[in-house]
Amino acid sequence: QVTVIGGGPAGYVCAIRLSQLGLKTACVESRGTLGGTCLNIGCIPSKSLLNLSEQFYKAKKFSQLGIDIGEVKLNLSMMMKNKDKAVDSLTKGVEFLLKKNKVSYFKGLGSFKSQNQISIKYKDKITVIETEKTVICTGSEPISLKGVKIDEKKILSSTGALSIPSVPKKMVVIGAGYIGLEMASVWSRLGSEVHIVEFLDHILPGMDKEISSEFIKILNKQGINFHLKTKVESITNSNSSVIIDTKNDKGKSLKFESDVVLISVGRKAHTENLNLKLIGVEIDKNGKVKVNKNFETNIKNIYAIGDVINGPMLAHKAEEEGIAVAELIAGQSGHVNYDVIPGVIYTSPEVASVGKTEEELKELKYSYKVGKFPFLANSRAKAIDLPEGFVKILSDSKTDRVLGVHMIAHHAGELIAEMSLAMEFGASSEDIARTCHAHPTFSEAIKEAALSVDKRTIHS
Ligand code: FAD
Ligand code: NAI
Repeated sequence: QVTVIGGGPAGYVCAIRLSQLGLKTACVESRGTLGGTCLNIGCIPSKSLLNLSEQFYKAKKFSQLGIDIGEVKLNLSMMMKNKDKAVDSLTKGVEFLLKKNKVSYFKGLGSFKSQNQISIKYKDKITVIETEKTVICTGSEPISLKGVKIDEKKILSSTGALSIPSVPKKMVVIGAGYIGLEMASVWSRLGSEVHIVEFLDHILPGMDKEISSEFIKILNKQGINFHLKTKVESITNSNSSVIIDTKNDKGKSLKFESDVVLISVGRKAHTENLNLKLIGVEIDKNGKVKVNKNFETNIKNIYAIGDVINGPMLAHKAEEEGIAVAELIAGQSGHVNYDVIPGVIYTSPEVASVGKTEEELKELKYSYKVGKFPFLANSRAKAIDLPEGFVKILSDSKTDRVLGVHMIAHHAGELIAEMSLAMEFGASSEDIARTCHAHPTFSEAIKEAALSVDKRTIHS
């Protein structure tokens, strides 16, 4: 009844939900393993390396804490094996989940033969399946700079940056977004000299500006070098190194000679191979599949979700859409609340955000209040010597309803869930302030930030 093309977070979640709702479902995936970008070359391997590199970094400082463990040495190939083990067990887990939920899994490249026929090419064999409805979940892929060919040896995308065989002496990262900052953290902790080139005057575009300006200072202290307002002029692959020519906004040239360069300037929707032209599915000017609020394309019974459509390219957004579209297809009223999609950067400390930024509220001419609390005044953070960062809560000045929460904190990725839930329930900052939070925890900083909205913090 329904064919899902793509087995990433959008596709496999959608297929499971469709099957739970009693629809006969097929899932087509060309990669050879399920889980998409996220499990194979994205969220999971990057979080594994972020964790392992942080452990290494911390272990080197153990003696300062009174723990003598002798010389700490890096075994990169073992680290990579551990990362691969995490990927392998999770991708196999998804295959098990499809089986358990009676989804038919087709290995191979899916494309439209007609509106109701999907052709699946696997090695030399082509299978055609009949389908009433199809959900396009083909995700996204990295983009490069004009004229620069990614070879995944010296000129890397995130995929190559997750598998560098030996620690590069020097690494240049183009783009200070999610991937740039996470990968820079990994390789800098493992010993690389890292330089990030960003053409804007700030890092993490789209994040609250106060967060991004505080965060760059923290990363700078960790030894990551930033070159803002700087444009790449050319990248040349020489025998032993890569030459990156850049120019800043004042016209000053800066040349880097580096072992590797990571291009992390964004991703684009992946729609090649689908034969969309044949059936007339419309694509927008950014190359994304155009859909209405029910995820329907302009062609009846063909839907699209995840990275391949508009919105943040995040795994949890893709999963929410997977559930919503399955429920809509089954005649229920699935929906996604785009006002409450958290975003997390898994550096150390982490950055997490949900809802509107202060800049967005200003642009919308919203009347708002601000509450802030620094981790320097949080007892748990002080006790374990992790006092960096702060929590910022923005609430409506008339109703006090929480409109946005932004934080830099250790465990921020977990802490933000409380505020996402609060926002889903339409909580006010007073609701948060009157909720008892366990002591001593990082989450008390959230309560204090909520108290600060009303200028009544206790601990600062
Ligand atoms: P994808 O995961 O890209 O899956 C699409 C699948 O479709 C792919 O497996 C592809 O092989 C398959 N496919 C494509 N065309 C065809 C075809 N014609 N036939 C059959 N199969 C096809 N997001 C987070 O929320 N948190 C993170 O920590 C995070 N970290 C990331 C780190 C990195 C390095 C990267 C690159 C991304 C990260 N993301 C993260 C983003 C996240 O991976 C994506 O938002 C998410 O994977 C999108 O899910 P999707 O199902 O839409 O697409
Ligand atoms: P991004 O959109 O997050 O950041 C790209 C950065 O590159 C921006 O700061 C942009 O200003 C800069 N840039 C663009 N062109 C440039 C140029 N020519 N020279 C210098 N700088 C330039 O894209 P990124 O980091 O590639 O990640 C893609 C997506 O993957 C993210 O937007 C996010 O949705 C997802 N992702 C999510 C993660 C998470 O949730 N923790 C982790 C990694 C990726």
